[in-house]
Amino acid sequence: MFYSIYDLLIYKTKEMGKTQDEMSRYFRDCGIRKQEIMFLKDNCSMASIGSMRQLVLDYLQMTELELNMALGIIPREYQKSYFDHISEISKLLEIENIETHKKEQKSYFTTNNGALFNKDCIEYLKSIEDDTVNLIFADPPFNLNKVYDEGVNDDLSTSEYLNWCFKWIDQCIRILKPGGSMCIYNIPKWSTYFSEYLNKQLTFRSWISVDMKYSLPIAGRLSPSHYALLYYVKGEKPTVFNNPRIQLQTCRHCGGEIKDYGGYKNKMNPLGVNVSDVWYDIFPVRHKNTKNRQYNELSVKLLDRIISMTTNEGDLVLDPFGGSGTTYIVSELLNRKWAGSEIGNCDIIVDRFKNIDKDRKILDNIHEDKDILFSESVKKLRRKNGFWLSEDFQNNF
Ligand SMILES: C[S@@+](CC[C@H](N)C(=O)[O-])C[C@H]1O[C@@H](n2cnc3c(N)ncnc32)[C@H](O)[C@@H]1O
Repeated sequence: MFYSIYDLLIYKTKEMGKTQDEMSRYFRDCGIRKQEIMFLKDNCSMASIGSMRQLVLDYLQMTELELNMALGIIPREYQKSYFDHISEISKLLEIENIETHKKEQKSYFTTNNGALFNKDCIEYLKSIEDDTVNLIFADPPFNLNKVYDEGVNDDLSTSEYLNWCFKWIDQCIRILKPGGSMCIYNIPKWSTYFSEYLNKQLTFRSWISVDMKYSLPIAGRLSPSHYALLYYVKGEKPTVFNNPRIQLQTCRHCGGEIKDYGGYKNKMNPLGVNVSDVWYDIFPVRHKNTKNRQYNELSVKLLDRIISMTTNEGDLVLDPFGGSGTTYIVSELLNRKWAGSEIGNCDIIVDRFKNIDKDRKILDNIHEDKDILFSESVKKLRRKNGFWLSEDFQNNF
C-alpha cells in the first residue's frame, strides 16, 4: 500500500528503469516546481494536487481509480461494485507465503519473570503463539531521522514507515489475548494512521495526550506539544482496567486548586482524582544521572501508569522495542511477567537489571505520591493558606 503520491511516483520510476533525476526533470519540463513535488510526499489525495493531477496520472500511466486504489482508497461511488466483486478481487490478491514461524528463539537475557531477545521485532513476534499477551506496549522509532544502532533506519519514506509499522502491529494484534490491551506511543502524525488501522481490528479506548514538556515553536504551524498514546483493547472490553488516580493539581506557590471543582470538594476521593486522557504529569528523562542511554528513553512513571492500569500481578507485558528496557524493568518491579525484543545494543538493558535498585527507588518515590489527593508538602501549604483538605470532610467517606 502507498501512503503518499510521491512514494508511488518513486516506485513507478524505478519500475520504468528511470532515475529520480529523470523523474524530477520530467516534472520540471512540465512547469512543476520542486516544492510542488515535495508536497506530494505527505499527500495521498488527488483532491489536493490541483493542476498536477493530469500530469501525475500521465506519468504513472494510471487512471484516477487505479491511482486511488494504489493509495488504498475506494471512492464511494465504486463501493458497491467493489463489494460485488470482492471474492474475485481477493482471489487475485492471494499469495501463498504468509508465514509465521513459531520456532523456539534464543533469548539474550532472562530473569524469573521475563526474557529479552536481541533481534528484529517482526521476526521475534512471529515466534509467539496467538492470544497470549495481556498488554503490548510499543514505542517504535518515530521516523524522525534520529541515529539508532545498526539495523535501524529512521529516515524511511512515509509508505515504507507505515507499511513496516502495520506489519508489527498485525503481529501484535494476533498475539494479544482477548480482553488484552495494546498501547502505542508515537507522534500524532503517525498515530492518525495507526488509529485508522487499529479501529478496524481492535476496540478504541483512548487517545491519551502525553504533554510534551519544553516543545519548541515551529514557524507556520502550531508547535507540537503532545505525544499520542493510543490505547486499544482486543474485543469488547478490557479484562483489566485499574482506574488510575492522581493528585489534585495545585498552584506551587499557594497550594490552591488550579481547576475549579465547584461545590464537589467534599465528594473528592482522598485517594486522588481520576486521570483524564491528558497526561500533563509525565516528565521526559533528560538528565544524565537518570538516563540509561543516549537515545530516547521513557520515564518509569509513564510505564508504571500504563502497566498498573491495564494489567494485574502475574500478567504478561510485551514490548517489541526494548530501548533502554523501561517497560521490562517496571514490569519486573510490579511483579508482571515480561518479554520483548531489541535489535540494537541489549547490554544497556542487562546493566539496568543489574542495577535494578536504582529504578526500584524511582518507582518507590512515584508510589509514595500515588493514591493520595495531596502530598504532605502540599497539605502543609494548603493548611497555611486556609484551603480545604480531605480530612475536613472525613465523615463524608
Ligand atoms: C524509541 S526507542 C524505545 C525506547 C524505550 N521505550 C525506552 O523507554 O527505553 C525504539 C527502540 O526500538 C529499537 N528498534 C528499532 N527497530 C527495531 C526492530 N525492527 N526490532 C527491534 N527493535 C527495534 C531501537 O533500537 C530503539 O532502541
